[in-house]
Amino acid sequence: MQPNAGSQGELAGLLAIRGYHRSRGDFQRNVCVIPSSAHGTNAASAVLAGMEVVVVACDEDGNVDVADLKIKIAEAGDTLAALMITYPSTHGVFEEAVVEICDLVHAAGGQVYIDGANTNAVVGYAKFGEFGGDVSHLNLHKTFCIPHGGGGPGVGPVVAREHLRPFLPGHSLAQVDLGSYGPVSAAPFGSPSILPISWAYIQMMGPSGLMDATAVAVLSANYVAKKLSDAFPLLYTGKNGMVAHEAVIDIRPLQKDAGISNDDVAEATS
Ligand SMILES: Cc1ncc(COP(=O)(O)O)c(C=O)c1O
Repeated sequence: MQPNAGSQGELAGLLAIRGYHRSRGDFQRNVCVIPSSAHGTNAASAVLAGMEVVVVACDEDGNVDVADLKIKIAEAGDTLAALMITYPSTHGVFEEAVVEICDLVHAAGGQVYIDGANTNAVVGYAKFGEFGGDVSHLNLHKTFCIPHGGGGPGVGPVVAREHLRPFLPGHSLAQVDLGSYGPVSAAPFGSPSILPISWAYIQMMGPSGLMDATAVAVLSANYVAKKLSDAFPLLYTGKNGMVAHEAVIDIRPLQKDAGISNDDVAEATS
């Protein structure tokens, strides 16, 4: 619970991966493979964690290009530290090859970070651990109702498999054993005063309510995508023409034909 934002959760998770590799003597494992679809914070967190970023391409449907991933894994060899993958991705698609992708990384000695910022399309239906993820963060402001402005203050809890536990953030002022690693935020427990909101939300929704919320989130994104699709081509969809938690529209025809700029679109949608 210590990270104050999703991005801080990424940093905490990657530091845990780094600590794990170092504890095994794998000091050379410092390559973090990140798909071109990733949120910008992924690469920033990897650099903050002292890793070298290698970008893996996406296919024309917006998914991680598995053939390119195999090349990048082979090129990294025993320097592969981690793959960061977002499920569903920032392209608004459920990565259907996610299990194969996680297996490929593990077979090469890497660890898998599943970015859980878009868990609002997953809660109650799937578990990142079952995909093969080793560590994830959640964005409480995106899935569990807390307020959040740019850069926080928020809460980006990290969940990890047992083998990464010793490398999760600690704090010299914490009165309980948080882990042996250094802190990722100034306060031992980050911003705990926000947590009752998520707790109350989860209690009030209950298991079936949370599943309904997930279904409504995906349904709403598809409603918006469908409504807009006559006017704006959708950039990426899954194999049944559906999107996940969000939809990316293609404004390039408008930029070309009507001289509309990115700023115009940002103003119109904000
Ligand atoms: C996929 C993804 N990862 C990470 C983040 C970073 O989260 P935060 O803004 O809480 O730092 C976001 C934010 O929207 C996101 O969409």
